[in-house]
Amino acid sequence: MRAIQFHQFGSAEELYLGDFFTPEPAAHEIRVKVKATALNRADLLQREGKYPPPAGESPIMGLEIAGTVEKLGEKVEKWKIGDRVCGLLAGGGYAEYAVIHEDVAMPIPESLDFLAAAAIPEAFLTAFQALIWIAKLKEGETLLIHAGASGVGTSALQLARLIGARAFVTASAEKHGLCLTLGAEQCIDYKTQDFADCILDWTKGRGADVVLDFLGASYLERNLQSLAMDGRMVMLAIMGGAQAAGINLGIVLMKRLSIQGSTLRARTLTYKTELTKAFMELTWDHFANGSLFPVVDKIFPWEEVAQAHLYMEGNRNQGKIVLSVE
Ligand SMILES: NC(=O)c1ccc[n+]([C@@H]2O[C@H](COP(=O)([O-])OP(=O)(O)OC[C@H]3O[C@@H](n4cnc5c(N)ncnc54)[C@H](OP(=O)(O)O)[C@@H]3O)[C@@H](O)[C@H]2O)c1
Repeated sequence: MRAIQFHQFGSAEELYLGDFFTPEPAAHEIRVKVKATALNRADLLQREGKYPPPAGESPIMGLEIAGTVEKLGEKVEKWKIGDRVCGLLAGGGYAEYAVIHEDVAMPIPESLDFLAAAAIPEAFLTAFQALIWIAKLKEGETLLIHAGASGVGTSALQLARLIGARAFVTASAEKHGLCLTLGAEQCIDYKTQDFADCILDWTKGRGADVVLDFLGASYLERNLQSLAMDGRMVMLAIMGGAQAAGINLGIVLMKRLSIQGSTLRARTLTYKTELTKAFMELTWDHFANGSLFPVVDKIFPWEEVAQAHLYMEGNRNQGKIVLSVE
């Protein structure tokens, strides 16, 4: 089969489309003829040699796919050849064929094409896991979402709206329109405004119940200031650095804050199976009727994967970047 690979760790120029062995499905796996895959920041890090795939997983980039079932493992009972599926992978999505466990594949609603379906798994499952499973966000609570126009951010905004939470976001000013359309109550241009001041102002000094963070060190102090009593922060990335000095941990103590980090890729199959099941129970009818939808910014043919990576690296996307695989 053909798959996108890189000559060596480095820039987007290292990417190429070449031959790779076609994966065989294990007993409980299905092989999918990939029609579309989507980009994630993890792909950029993997290409740079900073985020290796978990042991035993495909070395090919790509954490999510949509396509049709092409071959069944010998014990597969849930799927038949030709079914339209999408789902989360630990790797291997940038390829003509990918294998996925039958329990984490999701049926694509009739209303969605492959390009849209490929944009759901990683962003929405990440947002669901962070907000619903970890932070236990509830109706009426207040949420601060950083990088509000990112793939995960646009998914988190829609989930917040679904459960009736108030959402504030930080994002570049030109991305505020999208965030407001998706239900953000207020947007903060983090380049010119102090987000902690804004949150405390808009919540009359109370703060946000939940913060969804991707920045780490550069935002830590202001995230702690932004949180309400018993607030919860979920940290999913450290785009703003890993080492934080001079932080007043008294705030954590006095406000009884919880801070939890998480990564999705290396979770066990059991965890991903349960997560996928719970996610579908909450959301799948909403995807089918269009009240939830993946925000797709741009679709690139997979031959143009280097341009797609550069587009993400330049922080130009609002929502997901999809690769069509032909
Ligand atoms: N832990 C997990 O399980 C998990 C799973 C999936 C994703 N993630 C992480 O979640 C984050 C979002 O992923 P994604 O794929 O949705 O990303 P994305 O669509 O590429 O969006 C990322 C956005 O973050 C903003 N940003 C970048 N650098 C920034 C900085 N230094 N300060 C402030 N904002 C910055 C940019 O938007 P603006 O123009 O608004 O600045 C950028 O477009 C990534 O860091 C990713 O690694 C974690």
